[in-house]
Amino acid sequence: MLAEVALLKEKIAQIEISDAEALESFRVGILKKEIPALMARLRDVLPEDRKSFGLAINELKELAQNRFKIAQEQIEAQKVRADDQPLDLTLPTLANALGSVHPLSLVKNRIIEIFERIGFHVADGPEIEDDWHNFTALNFPPNHPAREMQDTFFLEKDPDIALRTHTSSVQVRLMESQKPPLRAIMPGRVYRNEAISARAHCIFHQVEGLYIDEQVSLLDLKQTLFHFAREMFGQNTQIRFRPSFFPFTEPSAEVDISCNICQGKGCNVCKYSGWLEIGGCGMVDPNVLQSCGIDAEKYTGFAFGMGIERMAMLKYQIRDLRLFTENDIRFLRQFRSQIH
Ligand code: PHE
Repeated sequence: MLAEVALLKEKIAQIEISDAEALESFRVGILKKEIPALMARLRDVLPEDRKSFGLAINELKELAQNRFKIAQEQIEAQKVRADDQPLDLTLPTLANALGSVHPLSLVKNRIIEIFERIGFHVADGPEIEDDWHNFTALNFPPNHPAREMQDTFFLEKDPDIALRTHTSSVQVRLMESQKPPLRAIMPGRVYRNEAISARAHCIFHQVEGLYIDEQVSLLDLKQTLFHFAREMFGQNTQIRFRPSFFPFTEPSAEVDISCNICQGKGCNVCKYSGWLEIGGCGMVDPNVLQSCGIDAEKYTGFAFGMGIERMAMLKYQIRDLRLFTENDIRFLRQFRSQIH
């Protein structure tokens, strides 16, 4: 009897259980059949041999159960690994994730598109400027308090060199290098020494516009900006001019558009005034024309300057300027469907 137990023990040790099928036949054949059959023979054993037979068969049962458990775990683990490595090499690859155009680029491109259609071309200039192009040629006399309207980052070693505080410097470069008629817009990055907050940043973008020819009038300026505002913010948009001051324009005005959120009725975005400021403008001061070598008797011109962030905030109802530079993917992804 003990010899039969030893035989079965050897059989169990030698059985190969390499897959789910072998595991099942081990369970049915050994655990459910052969071991119970041996156990049933306990009653045929002589009373004095029962104890040692019982111990031997219990040991065998435990051994078989352990084998079963280990084999089961191995087969399970193999299955997981196989699931991890799909072997179908003909499957199509995953699509590349689509990027998106930055909202400031979207707005800048739209501005360019609108002005190009009415004959303005795009001009560019350096971001590191000298005092002449950023201030003096634009009728800011040396040490004049008007310079303090724009907190400037100067180069420590050479106070004549600064990061441009506005794109008006490109205006000067254009007038110096080309003869009228001139009709251009100048989008670009500008810098001011301001604390960063939801409403102000030390780096932002402007787009400047300049039109110089014989008999350019304030009416041309107003119609150009009116056309732009309607193209950009919708055909029902109204504009208004508020008298203002810039050293390089005379007369000067600040430009407001009717609030595109409440349609001028009053809401918290326009602070219940119905109007939103988008930039400054005016007729180019004859002093500026003269500084740049343009005959101020013969030619007149208008200029305007608008903040690109400001326009993007109004167009997409963005409340915090800092979002534009944080590169938070959750913010940027929202512009995926815009193609401009
Ligand atoms: N350069 C001015 C600014 O940055 C804006 C402006 C441009 C005003 C052109 C009038 C004409 O504040």
